[in-house]
This record gives sequence, C-alpha cells and structure tokens, in this order.
Amino acid sequence: MDLIQFFGRFHVLVLHLPIGILVMAACLEIYAFLKKRARSEVMQTVWLWGAISAIGTCILGYMLSLGGGYNADAVAIHMTYGISVAVFSIICWLLFGKNGTKATTSVAAFSVVQLILLTLTGHYGANMTHGSTFLVEHAPQAIRTMAGLPAATKARLKPASLDVALVYPDIIQPIFESRCVGCHNDEKTKGELKLNNHAAILKGGKTGPAVMANSLENSELFKRINLHPSDENFMPAEGKTALTENQIAILKWWIENGAVENASLKDVGISADLQTIIASELGLSNIEVKFLAADADPNIIEKLEDAGFKFRRSIQDEPYIEVIYSTPLVPLTDDTLNLLLAIKDQLTVLKLSRSSLNDTQMAVIGQLTELYSLNISDTQVTNEGAKQLLNLSNLKSLNLFSTGVNNFTQTAEENLPELEHIYGGE
Ligand code: HEC
Repeated sequence: MDLIQFFGRFHVLVLHLPIGILVMAACLEIYAFLKKRARSEVMQTVWLWGAISAIGTCILGYMLSLGGGYNADAVAIHMTYGISVAVFSIICWLLFGKNGTKATTSVAAFSVVQLILLTLTGHYGANMTHGSTFLVEHAPQAIRTMAGLPAATKARLKPASLDVALVYPDIIQPIFESRCVGCHNDEKTKGELKLNNHAAILKGGKTGPAVMANSLENSELFKRINLHPSDENFMPAEGKTALTENQIAILKWWIENGAVENASLKDVGISADLQTIIASELGLSNIEVKFLAADADPNIIEKLEDAGFKFRRSIQDEPYIEVIYSTPLVPLTDDTLNLLLAIKDQLTVLKLSRSSLNDTQMAVIGQLTELYSLNISDTQVTNEGAKQLLNLSNLKSLNLFSTGVNNFTQTAEENLPELEHIYGGE
C-alpha cells in the first residue's frame, strides 16, 4: 500500500508529459491542415509517445486515488476524462500513422477533440488539488456568474481591536485557514475531515469529532498538532509548516473554553498573557501595559494619572488596562515613581521614554520585578543606573536607545534569562 502511494504521488509530476506531447502533436496536425502543408512522418511516433505517457499517467493516477482523501465524484469525472485522453491518443496513433504525409480533415478534427479532452481532464484534476473555485475565485463578478458562483463575499475584515473580535471567525478559523484547510476542505477531505467551518470541526472525520469542547484529551485535533513532527499522525501532514507555539496556545484556550463560535473574548474570559499572544497573532498593535485594575488600588491609579501617567482599558468593561507612559513635560519625581511600587504586581509593561528618569531613580525600577517590557529610551540613565536592570528577571524586551548606557548588551543577555529583544545599549 505504501509503495502504491509512493508511485501514485508521481502522477502529479508525470502528467505534464502527456500534456506537453499531446498538445504539441495536436497543434502541429492542425497547423499542417490549415496551411495545407504536408504532415511530418515523425508525427506517428509523437502520437505513440503521447499515448504511452497518457496510459502511464492514468495508472499512476489510479494508484493515487486508492490513497483516498478526494471527493469520489470528482475522482470519477477526472478519471473518465483521463482515460478518454489515453484512448484517443491510441486511436490517433493507429489512424494517423497510415495517413502518410497528407493532412486530412479527420486528422485535424481528431486533434481538436484531443485538445478539448486534455483541457477538461486538466481542469477537473486541478479542481481536486486547488478546489473548484480556484480559477475564478478572483474573477470579476460577470465571470463568476457564468461559472455559477455566488457573488464574492468580502473577506472578513480583520478586527480593529481585541474587544470587537469574535472568537471563531476572527481568531480560530484563520489559524486553520493558514495551515490545514489546504487538505481539509470540501473537495479534498483528507481523513474525511473538513476544517473550513465550525460545525465541520465539531463533527470531525474518520475517527470522530476533531474537537471536543472543554476536553483536550478527547480532541483528536489537539493531540495531533502536539505530536512530534516525525510522528506519522502529526498534523499538518507531509512536512507542511507546523503551527507555532502561540497558535497551539490559542487553540488550547479555545478548546478548554467550550470551543465557542461567535462569542467575544469578553464572553469567554482570557488571561493577560494570551491576550498579548492573540493581539500579535492578529497583528493588532501590541498592548503596552496591562494589569488587572481590579487588583490595583484605584487611589494609586488616580494619583499616578494626576502625575501624568496614562492608562487605557484594552477590553471594554474588563479590568485589563494597557499603556502607561510619562508625559515628558512633567518631571518624574521620586514620590510618583514610588507609587509604581504599590502596583508592581500588576505592572508588566512600562514605558518611560523621554522622561526625566535618572540613575538614582533606577533603584525603584529595579524593584518592578514583574516587568517584561521596559522602555527607558531618551533618558539620562547611564551604566550606573542600568545595573538595576539586572534584577528584572522577567524582562523580555528592553529599550535603551539614546541613553548613556553602553557595552551593556552582553551583560544583559547573560543575566536576564527571558530577554529576547534589546534595543540600544551597545
Ligand atoms: C498535506 C495535507 C494535510 C494538511 C496540510 C493537514 N492534514 Fe490533517 N490529515 C491529512 C491526512 C492525509 C489525514 C488522514 C490520515 C491520518 O489520519 O493521518 C489527516 C487527518 C487529520 C485528522 C484526523 C481525522 C480523523 O478523524 O481521522 C485530524 C484531526 C487532522 N488531520 C487535523 C489537521 C490539522 C489541525 C491540520 C492543520 C494544522 C491539518 N490536519 C493539516 C492531511 C493533511
């Protein structure tokens, strides 16, 4: 069976031979007829090679079809046309050999039919690999109508922000679309599974539901994307680009929270970390600071706001807050900075660029140990103050552009285990 599959796959390669040879043969025959020129004697050999390669392609195609995964009707129609191409080329070889150098009407007519058969075979074959709407997908509406397609639905617009995003259509489906739908759609349904809509995913494939709401263990899909890539059951199959860690984390969250369809993030509930992951997956501007305002003392927040810090909710009616920055015009006093210590447990991203932050004040920054992103670009901080940064063991991103800090990159990379990006400080 494996050997059959092995050879079967060569169908998609070998099929170009009969196409090339037979198109060339038919065109030369028609040309000779129209120009009333003598046919070349070599034509009989050309038809013979066309017939041989067409028969070979049919056999390989049959082997490929045994592997399954294609719509049975689509296979039947493509196979019928494929076989008729092979039969027709044998007929051409037998008949036209005897015709000698005279380009007759029947030779030309047979050649035209051969061209039509080839086109149809190729068309139905391509539909199976690319989907039946592939050709006219981006066609003007008039052509879509001729092809019997409905008016183009506009691609769903990317949500402007996380609070308007719908869980399934905006976040989950695009993940399947990018890596899975190529093999799991209406025409090509590998493992009898479609991953192009919510209902189909829950319905599942050969082995049952692909996703079972609230249960990772019973979700075949989740198991397969977490296998080792060398495992034969790993998805995506055939060495196609795997899902990223972030995409897997998002799918995990989705399944564990009921595998919902049209809910918003707010309905489902989401951790701050995952919110950042989803924002970056959707290409939404990165949330700069978020922390649970519910946990942070509102009096402190108010005082910080009075001192020039800004907070913004990232999700309507939710406790998450994003963005904090100092207004450069208001000098940063020690008292204000000390207020940050009161919300240090919630403070993960801090932007103090272009503020009056100095080396002495860096002692406070050095205590904000939950920070994973810190921007102190355009400040007077020097190597002396930068020493404090080495306490921030959760830091992933650090911006030191236009500061007095230099020769610091290596020290930072050696001492901050999570550090992924450091800007400036060379
Ligand atoms: C290159 C083609 C290809 C791609 C891309 C692909 N798959 Fe598959 N998938 C298959 C084949 C072939 C099978 C059937 C063989 C098997 O069960 O391993 C299958 C089967 C499955 C099954 C089991 C269905 C059942 O009920 O038996 C799941 C679940 C699945 N795929 C999920 C995925 C996911 C999720 C992705 C995207 C990350 C994906 N596939 C991408 C080819 C592919």
